[in-house]
Amino acid sequence: MRPDPTAAPPAGLAAERLPALAGHPERAPRVQEMFDQLAPRYDLANRLLSLGLDQWWRRQALDALKDSGRGEVLDLCAGTLDLTAALVRRGARHVHAVDFSPQMLQAGRPKLPPGAPVSITTADARELPLPDQSVDGIICGFGLRNVPEVHRAMAECARVLRPGGRLVVLDFFQPVGPTSRLLQGTYNRLIVPAVGGLVTGFRDAYAYLAGSIDAFMTRAAFEEMTAGLGFAVRGREMLPPVASMIVGIRQEATVVRVEGEA
Ligand SMILES: C[S@@+](CC[C@H](N)C(=O)[O-])C[C@H]1O[C@@H](n2cnc3c(N)ncnc32)[C@H](O)[C@@H]1O
Repeated sequence: MRPDPTAAPPAGLAAERLPALAGHPERAPRVQEMFDQLAPRYDLANRLLSLGLDQWWRRQALDALKDSGRGEVLDLCAGTLDLTAALVRRGARHVHAVDFSPQMLQAGRPKLPPGAPVSITTADARELPLPDQSVDGIICGFGLRNVPEVHRAMAECARVLRPGGRLVVLDFFQPVGPTSRLLQGTYNRLIVPAVGGLVTGFRDAYAYLAGSIDAFMTRAAFEEMTAGLGFAVRGREMLPPVASMIVGIRQEATVVRVEGEA
């Protein structure tokens, strides 16, 4: 059953069982704590769970950045810095790695060569610590479905990206159609919590991550939202068709307002 995002916040988020938080609007502090706990074994669990496919998907996402990947680039929800390190290897002028989990960022630091042109900042994706139109490209790998009020994070992306710059998002969207529902449902509900739990000791966290896919938007809805924020958008499924990639090109400056702003 999909979580009700309008339900009242659970009393004492830290005590709440993690799977119940997928899609909850007040989940950010507990999700941050969860990633801090997962950080030391996150990479290993990822490789095992995706059989290494995550690295292939990341390479395709980096390719999709094209020239935007060689300027100032934001790695949003940067986690353990896989994409940041790859951007440096590919010659990015500067990478801004932003994530709200200090432990995830810390775990990734050894992946960077000494003197790498990277600034690492602990911040929420909904309030980016970057000036307007200050980056040439943005990449976000498997982060956005964890962000409550994802439209605010996307509006921030629209604000900080220069017109003509590229945004590339890799994520697992809510599956549509019986085959992908069945495939993803079986994999996410059975295999992910079992393997993730075994590797990290945090089965609940992996049950949350699997549940967060069902609670996220469909790819079509995400594309529509992104287009509404001033991007020319195109999306596609990766192979195998579980993850998807969305590429947006920032159009000439548009005033972006998000709900709740005057
Ligand atoms: C599944 S990991 C992906 C990490 C990395 N991008 C990768 O490709 O492996 C999701 C990351 O998103 C971060 N995250 C989740 N919600 C966030 C938020 N509201 N603001 C900033 N970072 C967030 C988590 O701390 C975590 O490091």
